[in-house]
Amino acid sequence: MRTLVTGAAGFVGSHVVEALEAAGHEVSGLDRRPGAGLVLGDVRDAETLARSLRGVDAVVHQAAKVGIGLGVADMPEYASVNVHGTAVLLAAMAEHGVSRLVLASSMVVYGEGVYDCPRHGRVRPGPRAQPDLARGAFEPRCPYCGSEPSPLATDEDAPPEPRNAYAATKLAQEHLAASWARETGGTAIALRYHNVYGPRMPRDTPYSGVAAIFRSALESGRAPRVFEDGRQRRDFVHVRDVARANVLALGSGVPPAALTTCNVASGEPHTIGEMAAALAAAHGGPEPVTTGEYRLGDVRHIVAAAGRAARELGFRAEIGFAEGMREFAVAPLG
Ligand code: UD1
Repeated sequence: MRTLVTGAAGFVGSHVVEALEAAGHEVSGLDRRPGAGLVLGDVRDAETLARSLRGVDAVVHQAAKVGIGLGVADMPEYASVNVHGTAVLLAAMAEHGVSRLVLASSMVVYGEGVYDCPRHGRVRPGPRAQPDLARGAFEPRCPYCGSEPSPLATDEDAPPEPRNAYAATKLAQEHLAASWARETGGTAIALRYHNVYGPRMPRDTPYSGVAAIFRSALESGRAPRVFEDGRQRRDFVHVRDVARANVLALGSGVPPAALTTCNVASGEPHTIGEMAAALAAAHGGPEPVTTGEYRLGDVRHIVAAAGRAARELGFRAEIGFAEGMREFAVAPLG
């Protein structure tokens, strides 16, 4: 298949290019950053897209502004790159008859995960109150009775509840892709990446996830600072597994004229404290410190139900937590 990867010079995009080439795809790449064999350009530029889409069968859309950034000041840029960029891309795909899309989405579209309350069953707690966080009460409350519910694995049918600009734009990308698929009869798959980590992950910036922040700290001899009580849970999925999920998505037989959403996760949740400890041990120190600090925008637990990706794409993560973190502790960063 002739496949265009947008964001091909980026962390996930560069691994996707390698995995597609290894699987026999004829790959071209587009990025704002120069790279060997890549078209230099922006997804918001219709002329660049017209050149890049000629003869292409499918697009794997990884180009995006990621992370939580600097807050409200960053909103226009998130909206422009992620929402406007995807809209321009989809219009160009329709114009050039490209009918298959794999979209890099994110678990951030869910907000807080799904929980089980002993009295009220499946519940979705709202944002945690600042006074609770300040006194170290980190677990979210049942919205009906205020008791402490237990986290469940979140599946793709959980109603989205984006909690920041990045999350809102990832959800908007999904909605645009669904609309494109309905109107053109195209096939669209949104891969909701959980916490991706691995070689070439960008260094610590306001846009980095926790794995990059801890890895950068260790590299410069500083202790990883674990927020809250360190017991918040995430699903860390290795970037080569994520790249493989993209290859499988391109070949999958999901129905056309609709959007299929799939979590891309390891299925092996861990706490942030465990992740910090594993990474620090593999790096040879320094030991993490648990600080009790908190960020108002953070959700407490978000872990994936990985069943749909297994059923629809045949995807199961292959790189385990211990093995992946050992490699990441010493791997080159981007
Ligand atoms: C992250 C990214 C999101 C991405 C998603 C899936 C951010 C803010 N969010 O969501 O863009 O789509 O992964 O890949 O980048 N923490 C610490 N110490 C630190 C920094 C963070 O303990 O120095 C804790 C946070 O309090 C939080 C957890 O680590 O509990 C995860 O933080 P982070 O990776 O930033 O955000 P996610 O919500 O997992």
